[in-house]
Amino acid sequence: MRTQIGIVGAGPAGLMLSHLLHLAGIHSIVIENRSRAYCEARVRAGLMEHWVSELLVETGVGDRMKRESMVHDGTYLAFNGTAHHIDFSKLVGKHVVIYDQKEVVTDLIARRLADGGEIHFEVEDTSIHDFNSDRPRIRFRSNGQQQEIACDFIAGCDGFHGIARPSVPATAISGFDRVYPFGWLGILAQSPPPEKELIYAYHPRGFALYSMRGPTLPRLYIQCAPDEDIENWPDSRIWEELHTRLAAVGAQELTEGPVLQKGITGMRSFMIEPMQYKRLFLAGDAAHIVPPTGAKGLNLAAVDVRVLARALGEFYGRGSRDLLDRYSAICLRHAWKVQRFSWWMTSMLHLFPGDSAFDRRRQLAELDYLTGSRAAQQSLAENYVGLDVSLNM
Ligand code: FAD
Ligand code: PHB
Repeated sequence: MRTQIGIVGAGPAGLMLSHLLHLAGIHSIVIENRSRAYCEARVRAGLMEHWVSELLVETGVGDRMKRESMVHDGTYLAFNGTAHHIDFSKLVGKHVVIYDQKEVVTDLIARRLADGGEIHFEVEDTSIHDFNSDRPRIRFRSNGQQQEIACDFIAGCDGFHGIARPSVPATAISGFDRVYPFGWLGILAQSPPPEKELIYAYHPRGFALYSMRGPTLPRLYIQCAPDEDIENWPDSRIWEELHTRLAAVGAQELTEGPVLQKGITGMRSFMIEPMQYKRLFLAGDAAHIVPPTGAKGLNLAAVDVRVLARALGEFYGRGSRDLLDRYSAICLRHAWKVQRFSWWMTSMLHLFPGDSAFDRRRQLAELDYLTGSRAAQQSLAENYVGLDVSLNM
């Protein structure tokens, strides 16, 4: 097989990259080790920055999103028993969009296949080779057959546990890591929503988040120990904890319903520098992980592939390597700001084991300041709806 860009991973990063490249007249092949059904059902992120939803519409994959998504003009921060509204539209003139990541993936797969795109699902033993030369290759097995893709460039879009990042010589990249001493226990339930926007709650028993995937599909999270055993959390205990932590004046009472899915996610910040090695470009979770408190994972992946698609467009269209050579620097400059925001939201809203009474009062003072200051709210809003990425640095 031969293509211009060999893409490892059919998550949001790999699929969006393949779609954007197609629109720029650049051929790509995507390989994915899971099945199509698995990729289309994986429960993950649900919140899109304003510009990402616009990008989907502008590039012709936003029709279903426009019909089925929910536009949120703001969010609530709850603490000391009161919910405070932060109005993004008033503060910065933008909104966020609630649309499940698995629906984005479903729409992108459908569109790639309709456009004649090549996606190989359920491949095994992926490995990447010779990306320090002009002839990179991707090897894998598909239906028991050994296969090879020869390409000009490889895009490693295979997430945090993929093979692309570990294939870079250890001396060529640096990693920056922070593991948080807690996790999130998340459930997807079927019940009427208490609010039409998200509620981020700081509570003496720990953080809680009310989010949603649809008008009757709340997605709820509670802070828990990082190694918590889900068996210790029958539904009744989860609801009790949610009632306690999310109770706030200004927010409706939470209604219980059947729990459709539950799981525990660890929390970490992770970055590598640089995000490129010779003819291998890393994008999305393969290059960085943010704690979910800022709702940024999916959005960061979209930034990377938008920059990469533009850079490859300039390379093939005008023969210019300029943007391609600056890919890593441009993405890292943005990703570090997003990492900072995600860390800040996480630090402000969670209980850290071993924190003193001083730390708790400082967190409350920060929330009090934030909800009382237009300037501080504007900063939160600007980051939450999505910072602009400058290609001219
Ligand atoms: P991924 O979505 O991980 O896609 C990578 C793809 O590569 C996968 O399909 C994988 O199967 C494939 N792959 C891996 N290895 C190989 C291989 N060797 N060969 C071929 N294919 C391979 N973000 C939020 O904002 N809010 C959330 O609530 C949230 N929850 C999350 C829960 C979990 C369990 C995880 C893991 C992430 C969550 N995130 C969340 C983060 C967000 O979903 C990610 O940032 C986003 O999926 C990044 O997209 P990606 O395409 O870079 O990586
Ligand atoms: C989600 O809906 O899963 C979600 C929303 C906002 C966050 C994190 C997760 O900050």
